[in-house]
Amino acid sequence: MSDVPAFDVQAIRAQFPLLSVTAHDKPLVYLDNGATTQKPLSVLKALDDYYRQLNSNVHRGAHDLADRATRAFEASRRKVAQYVGAARDEEIVWTRGTTESINLVANSYGRNVLKAGDQIVISTLEHHANIVPWQLLCEATGAELKVIPVGDDGVLDQAAYQALLNEKVQIVAFSHVSNALGTVNPVVDMTAKAKAVGAVVLIDGAQSVAHFDVDVQAIGCDFYVFSAHKMFGPTGMGALWGRYALLEAMPPWQGGGEMIDQVSFEKTTFNVPPFRFEAGTPDISGVIGWGAAVDFMQSLDKEGMRAHEKDVLDYALAKAADCEGLKLVGESPDRAGVMSFLIDDSHPADVGTLLDRQGIAVRTGHHCTQPLMQRFGIPGTVRASFALYNTRADVDALFVGLEKVKTFL
Ligand code: ALA
Repeated sequence: MSDVPAFDVQAIRAQFPLLSVTAHDKPLVYLDNGATTQKPLSVLKALDDYYRQLNSNVHRGAHDLADRATRAFEASRRKVAQYVGAARDEEIVWTRGTTESINLVANSYGRNVLKAGDQIVISTLEHHANIVPWQLLCEATGAELKVIPVGDDGVLDQAAYQALLNEKVQIVAFSHVSNALGTVNPVVDMTAKAKAVGAVVLIDGAQSVAHFDVDVQAIGCDFYVFSAHKMFGPTGMGALWGRYALLEAMPPWQGGGEMIDQVSFEKTTFNVPPFRFEAGTPDISGVIGWGAAVDFMQSLDKEGMRAHEKDVLDYALAKAADCEGLKLVGESPDRAGVMSFLIDDSHPADVGTLLDRQGIAVRTGHHCTQPLMQRFGIPGTVRASFALYNTRADVDALFVGLEKVKTFL
């Protein structure tokens, strides 16, 4: 076994009730963390406590309960802000998730700034959520979409990226970690290259926040978007981090309560960020549950956690190398949490179904990255995605399962 004793994975697992359930009458082996992570007891308790003891609307009430709910709600904003190294709490805008955060930037910042002939650069690795909003923006403004190519190893071609950059590029958007392949992009360097031509940089952090500390100021980007449910928090909850000066210059994108300053039928003026972008009653329990998830993450021995995650992924990759008929898709030396593969010429969905019958949960298909799958000329992959609570035993179960799958196919 590896030498990572400081991180007690069994104690961590005990905090996640869902890891003890069965699937098809077999103990569940949950390897679909890229899709969503399970929730620790502390997050479940925070959600329950909120509805039992605190339920009230925020930033509106003139009573004690509403004041307490508002304080808890804003305390979570501080936790999430600190988690990503924001300069101030007001740089965190609540959204429904990473997807909505990107749509917010495209519709507010993008529509305000872009004009015909401008360019947006994204990468071949992107999730549809970091492709389609930019395509819609291009259609609306006459801007052009350019795409950074990816090599056979699943690593972005940095020379080609550099060659795409020029003064017409207004926005560069790329993932921190690829959801389909696990490739970790060199975000500091890629951001610096974009800033050198004056572009604004958005980073999709959906797949990074559960694996390592993010420091948006050290990265130097302008927007960083991420979701609660991929870091042990509730579903339907996400955030946009943006530099305050940029947020301040951005128009609202949804109208309603809370985002206004003064409303009359003749003219409406708008609230300051982040409230300008938070129309309507927010997901208050989701915000408070996310705060508990941040507390959970912050309570961990991070170095031990990273060593443990690396150990489990390296163990899986070593087993993959010895597994006859298994072909990895994406072989970046710098990767986090994901092993994507194919078994001989089997369809990924068939492999996934046969694993599922053994209680092993993986994701199969295109992983919302159809252009990336087209680049590799495949319909999809089988994706095992790991979180901090996965173990070498989970990896063993996966490979025992795959041997059985091979006998059926
Ligand atoms: N984007 C999520 C995934 O990669 C749903 O599975």
